[in-house]
Order: sequence, then C-alpha cells, then structure tokens
Amino acid sequence: MTAPAPLHVPVLLQEVLDNLPVPPGGRVLDLTLGLGGHAEAILARADADARYLGVDRDPQARERARARLGADPRLTILAGTYEEIWTDPGFGDWMRLEAPQGLDAVLMDLGVSSLQLKDPGRGFSFQQEGPLDMRMDPESGATALEWLAEQTDESLADAIYGFGEERASRPIARAILKALAGGGLRTTLDLAAAVYTVLPREIARRKKQIDPATRTFQAIRIAVNGELDRLARVIELAVDRLRPGGRLGVISFHSLEDRIAKQTLRRLAGIYDGPGRTAPQPLPRILRLIHAGGLKPGEAEAAANPPSRSARLRIGERLSEDPLSRTTV
Ligand SMILES: C[S@@+](CC[C@H](N)C(=O)[O-])C[C@H]1O[C@@H](n2cnc3c(N)ncnc32)[C@H](O)[C@@H]1O
Repeated sequence: MTAPAPLHVPVLLQEVLDNLPVPPGGRVLDLTLGLGGHAEAILARADADARYLGVDRDPQARERARARLGADPRLTILAGTYEEIWTDPGFGDWMRLEAPQGLDAVLMDLGVSSLQLKDPGRGFSFQQEGPLDMRMDPESGATALEWLAEQTDESLADAIYGFGEERASRPIARAILKALAGGGLRTTLDLAAAVYTVLPREIARRKKQIDPATRTFQAIRIAVNGELDRLARVIELAVDRLRPGGRLGVISFHSLEDRIAKQTLRRLAGIYDGPGRTAPQPLPRILRLIHAGGLKPGEAEAAANPPSRSARLRIGERLSEDPLSRTTV
C-alpha cells in the first residue's frame, strides 16, 4: 500500500537546509509555520538545545503542525500574523527567555499552503465549488465576498491588475461586479465563471495556457489577506532580530512578492536601486546577500511538485551589530 500524499510538500527544502544552517543551540523563527514541513526537517537536524518558534495565522495549519510536531519540547507555536507578532507578549517573552542573543535563522515561506488551496471550504480554489471566503485566518477579517461588495469597478480593476498582473483587469472587474449586483456571485465557481466571460477557458486550454481565473483569484486572495501590505517592513523587523551571521530566507511564489523581497534585501545589503547612478546618501549595509539572484527549484523538484515551479528563495546574512560603522563585508 502506498502512503497517502502529504497535504503540503515543503518547497526548496534542501536549499533551505543548506542555506539556513542552525548552529548548536540555534534559535529559529519560522514566520509561516504552515503544516510544519520545513520545521520538521530543520528540527531533525538541530541539536537538543535548539529552540524553534513557529507562527501562523491559520488555526487549521497550527493544529496540523501541533499534531505533527507538538511533542517536540524545542518547539513553541504562536497564533498570529507576521505583521503583528512583533508586539505580541508571547513573542516578546520567547525572544527574551529563549533568544536574548538574537536569532540564527528566520524563515518566511509566503503564500498559501496546499491544505488551504485544496480545501474547497476555504474558497481559494477556482477548480472546486466553495464559499467566496479566501481568508487565511477564517476567524477574522472580511471574506472575499464581503471585500468584493465594497469595491467599485475601478478599485477592483486596480487590485486585479496590481496584485494579479492581469491585463484584462477592467472588463473582468466589470463582469464580477455585474454578477454580484445580479445576485449571481456566491461561490468560487461563480467568480471563475465571471472571469471566463471575458477570458474564455476553452481558448486558454487549447493554447495550453494557465487557467484564466488564476491571476484574478491570486489578486483577490492577496487583497483579502493584505499579503503585500507590510512585507518589506516585516523583512526589516526580522533582520533586526538576527544575530551577526544569522540568516533570513524568504520563499516567494509570484513576481510581486519576489520583487518586494529582492528590493528589500538589496536595500538592506546597501545596494542602491533608486533613480540615478548613486544613492543621495550612503545606505547602511546590514546584510550580505547569499546567492544574489535567489535559488529556484531544480528540475527534479519542479517535476515532482509542480506548485514549486514558481518558488524562489532569497537569503540575506546579517552583518555586524553596528551596521552604520561598517563599509565592507
Ligand atoms: C506556504 S505555507 C507554509 C508551509 C510550511 N513552510 C510547511 O512546510 O509546511 C504558508 C503559511 O503561511 C501562513 N501565512 C500566510 N500569511 C501569513 C501572515 N501574514 N502571518 C502569519 N502566517 C501567514 C499561511 O496560513 C500558511 O499556513
């Protein structure tokens, strides 16, 4: 008998293990614990004195991770978002008691897990009928349907273009809000059907293109969960908690996330990307980039786990305590 397929296969796992090494007694912060796939592998390599703090906003993910790893005394699981965890008393206590010298590794594996995507009841999938929800934390915030009800043609088109890079954003926004006004937008399949009125699915299938609803679903999910709102700031806050030599790894799944991760890490590495040839004033150099272009899955991983294909891991290593005084690595 073959074992059931795991609900979520951690992506770029070997690359994470190789590039976020945990020293003896190391301290690790995992800001997107998910089902604990990366956590399990990292903990398997860490020694008995290591400590691992896993954060996730999704109660179902935390429950699964707890069932998988909960017995490990080195692991603490915290509920919350990575935007807000920094002021959470539980986080402050853990940092003070377990990691007073700072962190050796921080991992951010962005986006949704397969558990979320595959559960029709969560409303993330355009392939299965489900409620228009899409919240990563089903206990807080507006559902996708509530969010859509607040939009105008223009604001929805801007979101679909900005978060989905969808060129047909304007007619798609109009079609969605028309379906909503006519009472015909209740489920994920209704939303996909509204997109297909503008971009027919059959044409995409014939041309072997991605499903035309992909970009619109991505955009609405990003908007509903505020996924990009504070990503740059969160990366800065995480880097701030690293000890010298400690590393941050960010795994992104689409170009918008990756652009923010790349630009933020480059800026913290003192690299100027603004207008003109040189920065108006020297940028403090807080990080060293590891694999400056980022790491992508190899052929074997891409073939075995197709959702990994769009993943990219970017890594930065913290330099000295006093970045402003530092001019060379
Ligand atoms: C790609 S999955 C992580 C999978 C995990 N690395 C594993 O191997 O099982 C991303 C997880 O991040 C969580 N997440 C997304 N945005 C978040 C946020 N702003 N704060 C906290 N958790 C978040 C999601 O709920 C999801 O469980």
